[in-house]
Amino acid sequence: MTAGAHLPVMLDRVLAAIAPRDGAIYVDGTFGAGGYSRAILDSARCRVCGIDRDPATAPAAAALESRYGGRFQFVPGRYGDMDSLLAARGIHAVDGVALDVGVSSMQLDSAERGFSFRADGPLDMRMSSTGRSAAEIVNEESERSLAAIIRDYGEERRARRVARAIVEARGEAPITRTGRLAAVVRQAVGQGGGGRHAIDPATRTFQAIRIHVNDELGELARGLSAAETLLRPGGRLAVVTFHSLEDRAVKRYLVERSEARPLPSRHAPDAPAGEPPPPPPRGPAPPAGGAAGPLPAARAPRDPPRRSRDRRQPARPFGTPARRRADGDAERRSEGGMRRSSTLLFALLAVAMGAVSIVIGTEVRDLEDRLAAIHRDIAREQEALHVLRAEWSYLNRPDRLEALARRHLGLRTPGAAQTMAVSDLPFAVQPDAAGGAPAPGPATPAPLEISAKAAGTAR
Ligand SMILES: C[S@@+](CC[C@H](N)C(=O)[O-])C[C@H]1O[C@@H](n2cnc3c(N)ncnc32)[C@H](O)[C@@H]1O
Repeated sequence: MTAGAHLPVMLDRVLAAIAPRDGAIYVDGTFGAGGYSRAILDSARCRVCGIDRDPATAPAAAALESRYGGRFQFVPGRYGDMDSLLAARGIHAVDGVALDVGVSSMQLDSAERGFSFRADGPLDMRMSSTGRSAAEIVNEESERSLAAIIRDYGEERRARRVARAIVEARGEAPITRTGRLAAVVRQAVGQGGGGRHAIDPATRTFQAIRIHVNDELGELARGLSAAETLLRPGGRLAVVTFHSLEDRAVKRYLVERSEARPLPSRHAPDAPAGEPPPPPPRGPAPPAGGAAGPLPAARAPRDPPRRSRDRRQPARPFGTPARRRADGDAERRSEGGMRRSSTLLFALLAVAMGAVSIVIGTEVRDLEDRLAAIHRDIAREQEALHVLRAEWSYLNRPDRLEALARRHLGLRTPGAAQTMAVSDLPFAVQPDAAGGAPAPGPATPAPLEISAKAAGTAR
Protein backbone atom coordinates (compact mmCIF):
# COMPACT_ATOMS: atom_id res chain seq x y z
CA MET A 1 0.00 0.00 0.00
CA THR A 2 1.73 3.18 -1.12
CA ALA A 3 0.86 6.81 -0.48
CA GLY A 4 0.46 7.52 -4.14
CA ALA A 5 -1.90 4.59 -4.77
CA HIS A 6 -4.81 6.12 -2.94
CA LEU A 7 -6.70 9.39 -3.38
CA PRO A 8 -8.20 10.42 -0.05
CA VAL A 9 -11.93 11.12 -0.33
CA MET A 10 -13.45 14.43 0.77
CA LEU A 11 -10.10 15.65 1.95
CA ASP A 12 -11.03 19.36 1.78
CA ARG A 13 -14.16 18.83 3.85
CA VAL A 14 -12.31 16.80 6.41
CA LEU A 15 -9.60 19.45 6.73
CA ALA A 16 -12.22 22.19 7.07
CA ALA A 17 -13.94 20.21 9.78
CA ILE A 18 -10.82 19.35 11.71
CA ALA A 19 -9.32 22.85 11.20
CA PRO A 20 -5.76 21.85 12.13
CA ARG A 21 -3.80 24.37 14.18
CA ASP A 22 -0.28 24.64 15.47
CA GLY A 23 0.58 22.83 18.64
CA ALA A 24 -2.54 20.67 18.50
CA ILE A 25 -2.66 16.89 18.35
CA TYR A 26 -4.93 14.88 16.03
CA VAL A 27 -5.92 11.27 15.48
CA ASP A 28 -6.31 9.75 12.02
CA GLY A 29 -8.19 6.64 13.09
CA THR A 30 -8.26 5.03 9.63
CA PHE A 31 -4.77 5.75 8.39
CA GLY A 32 -4.96 3.65 5.20
CA ALA A 33 -2.48 5.14 2.79
CA GLY A 34 -2.07 8.16 5.05
CA GLY A 35 -3.85 10.75 2.89
CA TYR A 36 -5.57 12.50 5.79
CA SER A 37 -2.55 12.31 8.08
CA ARG A 38 -0.34 13.92 5.50
CA ALA A 39 -2.80 16.70 4.76
CA ILE A 40 -3.26 17.52 8.45
CA LEU A 41 0.49 17.53 9.07
CA ASP A 42 0.94 19.85 6.09
CA SER A 43 -1.75 22.24 7.32
CA ALA A 44 -0.24 23.15 10.68
CA ARG A 45 2.71 22.51 12.99
CA CYS A 46 0.73 19.86 14.78
CA ARG A 47 1.11 16.21 15.72
CA VAL A 48 -0.84 13.28 14.24
CA CYS A 49 -1.35 9.76 15.54
CA GLY A 50 -2.31 7.43 12.67
CA ILE A 51 -4.17 4.25 13.58
CA ASP A 52 -4.92 1.30 11.29
CA ARG A 53 -5.79 -2.31 11.99
CA ASP A 54 -4.39 -3.44 8.64
CA PRO A 55 -0.73 -4.49 8.88
CA ALA A 56 -0.45 -3.71 5.18
CA THR A 57 -0.53 -0.01 6.02
CA ALA A 58 2.75 -0.19 7.91
CA PRO A 59 5.02 0.81 4.97
CA ALA A 60 3.00 3.98 4.27
CA ALA A 61 3.09 4.78 7.97
CA ALA A 62 6.84 4.31 8.11
CA ALA A 63 7.19 6.72 5.20
CA LEU A 64 5.30 9.42 7.10
CA GLU A 65 7.25 8.81 10.28
CA SER A 66 10.47 9.40 8.47
CA ARG A 67 9.13 12.44 6.63
CA TYR A 68 7.52 14.24 9.59
CA GLY A 69 9.82 13.01 12.33
CA GLY A 70 8.27 13.20 15.80
CA ARG A 71 5.16 14.94 14.50
CA PHE A 72 3.75 11.67 13.18
CA GLN A 73 3.32 8.48 15.11
CA PHE A 74 1.80 5.25 13.77
CA VAL A 75 -0.31 3.19 16.14
CA PRO A 76 -1.28 -0.27 14.87
CA GLY A 77 -4.68 -1.36 16.15
CA ARG A 78 -8.37 -0.57 16.03
CA TYR A 79 -9.71 2.93 16.25
CA GLY A 80 -12.39 1.61 18.61
CA ASP A 81 -9.53 1.34 21.12
CA MET A 82 -8.01 4.73 20.29
CA ASP A 83 -8.27 6.07 23.82
CA SER A 84 -6.43 3.14 25.40
CA LEU A 85 -3.98 2.88 22.49
CA LEU A 86 -3.04 6.54 22.90
CA ALA A 87 -3.07 6.41 26.68
CA ALA A 88 -0.48 3.66 26.45
CA ARG A 89 1.66 6.22 24.63
CA GLY A 90 1.04 8.95 27.19
CA ILE A 91 -1.60 10.80 25.17
CA HIS A 92 -4.80 11.40 27.08
CA ALA A 93 -6.48 14.19 25.16
CA VAL A 94 -6.56 15.31 21.53
CA ASP A 95 -7.91 18.24 19.54
CA GLY A 96 -9.43 16.38 16.62
CA VAL A 97 -10.28 12.92 15.31
CA ALA A 98 -10.76 11.96 11.65
CA LEU A 99 -12.34 8.68 10.58
CA ASP A 100 -12.71 7.47 6.98
CA VAL A 101 -14.56 4.29 7.80
CA GLY A 102 -14.87 1.14 5.76
CA VAL A 103 -12.61 -0.67 3.40
CA SER A 104 -9.89 1.04 1.40
CA SER A 105 -9.61 0.87 -2.35
CA MET A 106 -6.22 -0.79 -1.88
CA GLN A 107 -7.83 -3.56 0.15
CA LEU A 108 -10.64 -3.96 -2.38
CA ASP A 109 -8.28 -4.03 -5.28
CA SER A 110 -6.10 -6.77 -3.82
CA ALA A 111 -7.70 -10.00 -4.93
CA GLU A 112 -5.67 -11.95 -2.38
CA ARG A 113 -7.34 -10.04 0.48
CA GLY A 114 -10.64 -11.59 -0.50
CA PHE A 115 -12.83 -8.45 -0.38
CA SER A 116 -13.75 -8.28 -4.02
CA PHE A 117 -16.51 -10.02 -5.95
CA ARG A 118 -14.84 -8.82 -9.18
CA ALA A 119 -11.50 -10.49 -8.84
CA ASP A 120 -11.27 -14.09 -7.70
CA GLY A 121 -9.29 -14.68 -4.53
CA PRO A 122 -9.36 -16.49 -1.20
CA LEU A 123 -12.54 -15.70 0.71
CA ASP A 124 -10.89 -13.80 3.55
CA MET A 125 -12.03 -10.13 4.01
CA ARG A 126 -10.19 -9.64 7.32
CA MET A 127 -8.70 -6.15 7.56
CA SER A 128 -6.42 -7.12 10.40
CA SER A 129 -5.78 -10.65 9.14
CA THR A 130 -6.96 -12.01 12.50
CA GLY A 131 -10.21 -13.59 13.67
CA ARG A 132 -12.71 -15.57 11.61
CA SER A 133 -12.41 -15.20 7.88
CA ALA A 134 -15.29 -14.73 5.46
CA ALA A 135 -14.90 -18.35 4.39
CA GLU A 136 -15.40 -19.51 7.97
CA ILE A 137 -18.52 -17.39 8.30
CA VAL A 138 -19.99 -18.49 5.00
CA ASN A 139 -19.30 -22.19 5.62
CA GLU A 140 -20.08 -22.37 9.34
CA GLU A 141 -22.97 -20.05 10.13
CA SER A 142 -26.51 -21.39 10.02
CA GLU A 143 -28.79 -20.45 7.15
CA ARG A 144 -30.82 -18.32 9.52
CA SER A 145 -27.76 -16.50 10.79
CA LEU A 146 -26.47 -15.93 7.27
CA ALA A 147 -29.83 -14.52 6.24
CA ALA A 148 -29.76 -12.11 9.19
CA ILE A 149 -26.21 -10.98 8.39
CA ILE A 150 -27.03 -10.42 4.73
CA ARG A 151 -30.28 -8.62 5.55
CA ASP A 152 -28.97 -6.46 8.39
CA TYR A 153 -25.55 -5.49 7.06
CA GLY A 154 -26.28 -5.67 3.34
CA GLU A 155 -29.87 -4.45 3.38
CA GLU A 156 -30.48 -7.21 0.83
CA ARG A 157 -34.19 -7.83 0.27
CA ARG A 158 -33.51 -11.37 -0.98
CA ALA A 159 -31.35 -12.26 2.02
CA ARG A 160 -33.14 -15.54 2.79
CA ARG A 161 -32.92 -16.69 -0.76
CA VAL A 162 -29.20 -15.88 -0.86
CA ALA A 163 -28.60 -17.65 2.46
CA ARG A 164 -30.44 -20.72 1.20
CA ALA A 165 -28.37 -20.74 -1.98
CA ILE A 166 -25.14 -20.44 0.02
CA VAL A 167 -26.12 -23.34 2.29
CA GLU A 168 -27.03 -25.47 -0.73
CA ALA A 169 -23.77 -24.58 -2.47
CA ARG A 170 -21.62 -25.27 0.56
CA GLY A 171 -23.40 -28.64 0.88
CA GLU A 172 -21.77 -29.57 -2.39
CA ALA A 173 -18.35 -28.19 -1.47
CA PRO A 174 -17.05 -25.52 0.97
CA ILE A 175 -17.06 -22.02 -0.50
CA THR A 176 -13.47 -20.80 -0.25
CA ARG A 177 -13.11 -18.35 -3.15
CA THR A 178 -14.70 -14.97 -3.73
CA GLY A 179 -15.45 -15.92 -7.34
CA ARG A 180 -17.61 -18.88 -6.32
CA LEU A 181 -19.45 -16.96 -3.65
CA ALA A 182 -20.19 -14.14 -6.11
CA ALA A 183 -21.54 -16.66 -8.63
CA VAL A 184 -23.82 -18.30 -6.06
CA VAL A 185 -25.18 -14.96 -4.92
CA ARG A 186 -25.70 -13.61 -8.42
CA GLN A 187 -27.69 -16.68 -9.32
CA ALA A 188 -29.83 -16.40 -6.19
CA VAL A 189 -30.53 -12.70 -6.56
CA GLY A 190 -30.87 -12.59 -10.34
CA GLN A 191 -29.83 -9.69 -12.45
CA GLY A 192 -32.90 -7.54 -11.71
CA GLY A 193 -33.54 -4.27 -13.53
CA GLY A 194 -31.42 -1.16 -13.65
CA GLY A 195 -29.62 -1.62 -16.95
CA ARG A 196 -25.94 -1.01 -17.10
CA HIS A 197 -26.03 1.26 -14.04
CA ALA A 198 -27.36 -1.53 -11.84
CA ILE A 199 -24.99 -2.66 -9.14
CA ASP A 200 -23.56 -6.14 -9.20
CA PRO A 201 -26.08 -8.48 -7.50
CA ALA A 202 -23.26 -9.72 -5.25
CA THR A 203 -22.47 -6.22 -3.92
CA ARG A 204 -24.81 -6.24 -0.91
CA THR A 205 -23.94 -9.76 0.19
CA PHE A 206 -20.20 -9.08 0.00
CA GLN A 207 -20.61 -5.84 1.94
CA ALA A 208 -22.64 -7.65 4.60
CA ILE A 209 -20.12 -10.44 5.08
CA ARG A 210 -17.24 -7.94 5.21
CA ILE A 211 -19.00 -5.79 7.82
CA HIS A 212 -19.70 -8.89 9.88
CA VAL A 213 -16.16 -10.29 9.57
CA ASN A 214 -14.63 -6.98 10.72
CA ASP A 215 -17.39 -5.98 13.13
CA GLU A 216 -17.36 -2.64 11.37
CA LEU A 217 -20.48 -1.18 12.96
CA GLY A 218 -19.35 -2.25 16.41
CA GLU A 219 -16.00 -0.61 15.75
CA LEU A 220 -17.71 2.55 14.56
CA ALA A 221 -19.79 2.72 17.71
CA ARG A 222 -16.79 2.13 19.96
CA GLY A 223 -14.71 4.56 17.93
CA LEU A 224 -17.22 7.39 18.30
CA SER A 225 -17.39 6.80 22.00
CA ALA A 226 -13.60 6.61 22.34
CA ALA A 227 -13.21 9.79 20.29
CA GLU A 228 -15.61 11.61 22.53
CA THR A 229 -13.60 10.53 25.53
CA LEU A 230 -10.34 11.66 24.00
CA LEU A 231 -11.47 14.96 22.59
CA ARG A 232 -10.84 18.09 24.57
CA PRO A 233 -13.77 20.47 25.01
CA GLY A 234 -14.22 22.12 21.63
CA GLY A 235 -12.41 19.21 19.98
CA ARG A 236 -13.48 18.27 16.46
CA LEU A 237 -14.64 15.02 14.95
CA ALA A 238 -14.86 14.32 11.20
CA VAL A 239 -16.33 11.03 10.01
CA VAL A 240 -16.55 10.03 6.36
CA THR A 241 -19.00 7.20 5.81
CA PHE A 242 -19.54 5.02 2.78
CA HIS A 243 -22.93 3.37 3.17
CA SER A 244 -26.21 4.21 4.82
CA LEU A 245 -25.68 1.96 7.85
CA GLU A 246 -22.55 3.87 8.81
CA ASP A 247 -24.11 7.18 7.90
CA ARG A 248 -27.15 6.57 10.10
CA ALA A 249 -25.03 5.41 13.03
CA VAL A 250 -22.84 8.51 12.97
CA LYS A 251 -25.64 10.99 12.50
CA ARG A 252 -27.71 9.39 15.21
CA TYR A 253 -24.73 9.53 17.51
CA LEU A 254 -24.06 13.21 16.82
CA VAL A 255 -27.70 14.13 17.15
CA GLU A 256 -28.06 12.21 20.39
CA ARG A 257 -24.92 13.66 21.88
CA SER A 258 -25.76 17.17 20.76
CA GLU A 259 -29.29 17.05 22.11
CA ALA A 260 -28.41 15.26 25.30
CA ARG A 261 -27.33 17.45 28.14
CA PRO A 262 -23.62 16.65 27.98
CA LEU A 263 -21.87 15.19 30.94
CA PRO A 264 -18.76 17.09 31.89
CA SER A 265 -15.67 15.95 30.02
CA ARG A 266 -12.95 14.42 32.09
CA HIS A 267 -10.64 16.93 30.41
CA ALA A 268 -12.77 19.88 31.30
CA PRO A 269 -11.85 22.01 34.30
CA ASP A 270 -14.11 21.37 37.23
CA ALA A 271 -17.21 23.45 36.80
CA PRO A 272 -18.58 25.15 39.88
CA ALA A 273 -21.38 23.17 41.42
CA GLY A 274 -24.71 23.82 39.82
CA GLU A 275 -23.20 25.48 36.76
CA PRO A 276 -24.13 23.83 33.44
CA PRO A 277 -21.27 22.70 31.22
CA PRO A 278 -20.30 25.14 28.44
CA PRO A 279 -22.05 24.61 25.10
CA PRO A 280 -19.94 22.98 22.39
CA PRO A 281 -18.51 25.41 19.83
CA ARG A 282 -20.22 25.50 16.47
CA GLY A 283 -18.61 23.63 13.61
CA PRO A 284 -19.03 23.48 9.86
CA ALA A 285 -21.93 21.59 8.34
CA PRO A 286 -21.32 17.87 7.96
CA PRO A 287 -20.18 16.84 4.50
CA ALA A 288 -22.47 14.77 2.32
CA GLY A 289 -21.78 11.14 3.05
CA GLY A 290 -20.21 11.99 6.30
CA ALA A 291 -20.65 13.90 9.47
CA ALA A 292 -18.28 16.30 11.05
CA GLY A 293 -18.05 18.85 13.72
CA PRO A 294 -17.18 19.52 17.27
CA LEU A 295 -18.33 16.93 19.64
CA PRO A 296 -20.07 17.68 22.88
CA ALA A 297 -17.71 16.90 25.67
CA ALA A 298 -19.52 13.87 26.86
CA ARG A 299 -19.92 10.28 25.99
CA ALA A 300 -22.63 8.71 24.02
CA PRO A 301 -25.48 6.41 24.72
CA ARG A 302 -26.32 4.29 21.73
CA ASP A 303 -27.64 0.94 20.72
CA PRO A 304 -25.11 -1.80 21.12
CA PRO A 305 -23.76 -3.12 17.83
CA ARG A 306 -25.72 -6.06 16.56
CA ARG A 307 -24.16 -9.45 16.45
CA SER A 308 -20.76 -8.25 17.45
CA ARG A 309 -18.48 -11.21 17.52
CA ASP A 310 -15.92 -9.16 19.38
CA ARG A 311 -16.03 -10.23 22.98
CA ARG A 312 -13.77 -7.41 24.05
CA GLN A 313 -15.56 -4.65 25.77
CA PRO A 314 -14.83 -1.16 24.54
CA ALA A 315 -13.04 1.14 26.94
CA ARG A 316 -16.46 2.61 27.70
CA PRO A 317 -18.95 0.13 26.32
CA PHE A 318 -22.05 1.45 24.70
CA GLY A 319 -24.08 -0.30 27.30
CA THR A 320 -22.48 1.79 30.03
CA PRO A 321 -23.90 5.18 29.19
CA ALA A 322 -27.13 3.54 28.14
CA ARG A 323 -27.17 1.80 31.49
CA ARG A 324 -26.29 5.08 33.19
CA ARG A 325 -29.16 6.70 31.39
CA ALA A 326 -31.41 3.76 32.23
CA ASP A 327 -30.28 4.08 35.87
CA GLY A 328 -31.00 7.80 35.68
CA ASP A 329 -34.40 7.01 34.25
CA ALA A 330 -35.02 4.47 36.94
CA GLU A 331 -33.90 7.01 39.51
CA ARG A 332 -36.12 9.67 38.01
CA ARG A 333 -38.96 7.16 37.82
CA SER A 334 -38.44 6.16 41.42
CA GLU A 335 -38.05 9.81 42.39
CA GLY A 336 -41.21 10.54 40.49
CA GLY A 337 -42.82 7.54 42.11
CA MET A 338 -41.77 8.76 45.56
CA ARG A 339 -42.97 12.23 44.73
CA ARG A 340 -46.24 10.77 43.51
CA SER A 341 -46.59 8.60 46.65
CA SER A 342 -45.90 11.51 48.97
CA THR A 343 -48.31 13.65 46.99
CA LEU A 344 -50.84 10.87 47.32
CA LEU A 345 -50.12 10.64 51.04
CA PHE A 346 -50.55 14.36 51.45
CA ALA A 347 -53.71 14.18 49.40
CA LEU A 348 -55.01 11.38 51.60
CA LEU A 349 -54.05 13.31 54.71
CA ALA A 350 -55.71 16.39 53.33
CA VAL A 351 -58.84 14.40 52.51
CA ALA A 352 -58.81 12.81 55.97
CA MET A 353 -58.27 16.16 57.66
CA GLY A 354 -60.92 17.69 55.48
CA ALA A 355 -63.31 14.93 56.43
CA VAL A 356 -62.52 15.42 60.13
CA SER A 357 -62.99 19.16 59.89
CA ILE A 358 -66.26 18.64 58.04
CA VAL A 359 -67.48 16.32 60.82
CA ILE A 360 -66.36 18.75 63.51
CA GLY A 361 -67.92 21.65 61.64
CA THR A 362 -71.20 19.78 61.39
CA GLU A 363 -71.17 18.99 65.11
CA VAL A 364 -70.42 22.60 66.01
CA ARG A 365 -73.21 23.82 63.78
CA ASP A 366 -75.63 21.34 65.42
CA LEU A 367 -74.63 22.49 68.86
CA GLU A 368 -74.94 26.12 67.84
CA ASP A 369 -78.42 25.43 66.47
CA ARG A 370 -79.42 23.68 69.64
CA LEU A 371 -77.99 26.52 71.74
CA ALA A 372 -79.86 29.07 69.66
CA ALA A 373 -83.09 27.08 70.13
CA ILE A 374 -82.48 27.01 73.88
CA HIS A 375 -81.87 30.78 73.85
CA ARG A 376 -85.11 31.26 71.97
CA ASP A 377 -86.95 29.07 74.52
CA ILE A 378 -85.45 31.03 77.40
CA ALA A 379 -86.50 34.31 75.78
CA ARG A 380 -90.04 32.98 75.30
CA GLU A 381 -90.24 31.78 78.88
CA GLN A 382 -88.94 35.12 80.13
CA GLU A 383 -91.54 36.91 78.08
CA ALA A 384 -94.24 34.65 79.46
CA LEU A 385 -92.97 35.35 82.93
CA HIS A 386 -93.18 39.07 82.29
CA VAL A 387 -96.73 38.66 81.11
CA LEU A 388 -97.65 36.61 84.18
CA ARG A 389 -96.07 39.18 86.44
CA ALA A 390 -97.97 41.92 84.74
CA GLU A 391 -101.19 39.93 85.01
CA TRP A 392 -100.50 39.21 88.60
CA SER A 393 -99.89 42.82 89.42
CA TYR A 394 -103.12 43.68 87.58
CA LEU A 395 -105.22 41.01 89.25
CA ASN A 396 -103.81 41.62 92.63
CA ARG A 397 -106.41 44.36 93.17
CA PRO A 398 -110.01 43.32 94.10
CA ASP A 399 -111.64 46.11 92.12
CA ARG A 400 -109.91 44.86 88.97
CA LEU A 401 -110.94 41.32 89.73
CA GLU A 402 -114.48 42.51 90.20
CA ALA A 403 -114.39 44.39 86.94
CA LEU A 404 -113.06 41.32 85.20
CA ALA A 405 -115.70 39.13 86.68
CA ARG A 406 -118.25 41.59 85.64
CA ARG A 407 -116.95 41.97 82.17
CA HIS A 408 -116.15 38.40 81.35
CA LEU A 409 -118.45 36.37 83.63
CA GLY A 410 -121.40 38.72 83.95
CA LEU A 411 -121.14 38.52 87.75
CA ARG A 412 -122.03 41.41 89.98
CA THR A 413 -121.46 41.99 93.57
CA PRO A 414 -124.76 41.12 95.27
CA GLY A 415 -126.72 44.03 96.67
CA ALA A 416 -127.98 44.31 100.23
CA ALA A 417 -131.38 42.98 99.26
CA GLN A 418 -129.83 39.88 97.85
CA THR A 419 -128.06 38.86 100.98
CA MET A 420 -129.41 37.52 104.26
CA ALA A 421 -127.86 36.41 107.41
CA VAL A 422 -127.41 32.73 107.95
CA SER A 423 -129.60 32.90 110.93
CA ASP A 424 -132.35 34.15 108.70
CA LEU A 425 -132.22 31.13 106.50
CA PRO A 426 -135.41 29.00 106.61
CA PHE A 427 -133.56 25.82 107.18
CA ALA A 428 -131.43 27.08 109.93
CA VAL A 429 -130.67 24.36 112.49
CA GLN A 430 -132.90 24.46 115.55
CA PRO A 431 -131.64 23.24 118.93
CA ASP A 432 -133.63 20.25 120.18
CA ALA A 433 -135.90 20.57 123.18
CA ALA A 434 -133.60 18.79 125.49
CA GLY A 435 -131.03 21.18 124.56
CA GLY A 436 -128.99 18.36 122.92
CA ALA A 437 -127.54 18.14 119.53
CA PRO A 438 -129.69 19.24 116.73
CA ALA A 439 -131.71 16.63 114.92
CA PRO A 440 -130.70 16.10 111.34
CA GLY A 441 -132.84 18.21 109.04
CA PRO A 442 -134.68 16.73 106.12
CA ALA A 443 -132.57 18.26 103.35
CA THR A 444 -129.66 20.60 103.41
CA PRO A 445 -129.16 21.55 99.73
CA ALA A 446 -132.16 23.83 99.62
CA PRO A 447 -130.45 26.97 100.84
CA LEU A 448 -127.78 26.44 98.22
CA GLU A 449 -130.36 26.20 95.53
CA ILE A 450 -131.91 29.32 96.84
CA SER A 451 -128.54 30.99 96.79
CA ALA A 452 -128.06 29.83 93.29
CA LYS A 453 -131.40 31.07 92.28
CA ALA A 454 -130.73 34.22 94.08
CA ALA A 455 -127.48 34.44 92.22
CA GLY A 456 -129.25 33.58 89.00
CA THR A 457 -131.67 36.34 89.40
CA ALA A 458 -128.89 38.68 89.65
CA ARG A 459 -128.01 38.26 86.00
C1 LIG B 1 -11.14 4.11 3.55
S1 LIG B 1 -9.58 3.66 4.16
C2 LIG B 1 -8.93 5.14 4.77
C3 LIG B 1 -8.13 5.86 3.78
C4 LIG B 1 -7.44 7.05 4.36
N1 LIG B 1 -8.35 8.06 4.71
C5 LIG B 1 -6.43 7.63 3.38
O1 LIG B 1 -6.52 8.84 3.10
O2 LIG B 1 -5.58 6.91 2.93
C6 LIG B 1 -10.00 2.84 5.59
C7 LIG B 1 -8.85 2.32 6.38
O3 LIG B 1 -9.28 2.17 7.66
C8 LIG B 1 -8.80 0.96 8.15
N2 LIG B 1 -9.76 0.53 9.14
C9 LIG B 1 -11.03 0.15 8.96
N3 LIG B 1 -11.60 -0.15 10.12
C10 LIG B 1 -10.66 0.08 11.06
C11 LIG B 1 -10.66 -0.04 12.46
N4 LIG B 1 -11.74 -0.42 13.15
N5 LIG B 1 -9.57 0.30 13.13
C12 LIG B 1 -8.49 0.73 12.47
N6 LIG B 1 -8.42 0.83 11.15
C13 LIG B 1 -9.49 0.51 10.45
C14 LIG B 1 -8.74 0.05 7.01
O4 LIG B 1 -7.80 -0.96 7.24
C15 LIG B 1 -8.33 0.99 5.94
O5 LIG B 1 -6.97 1.04 5.82
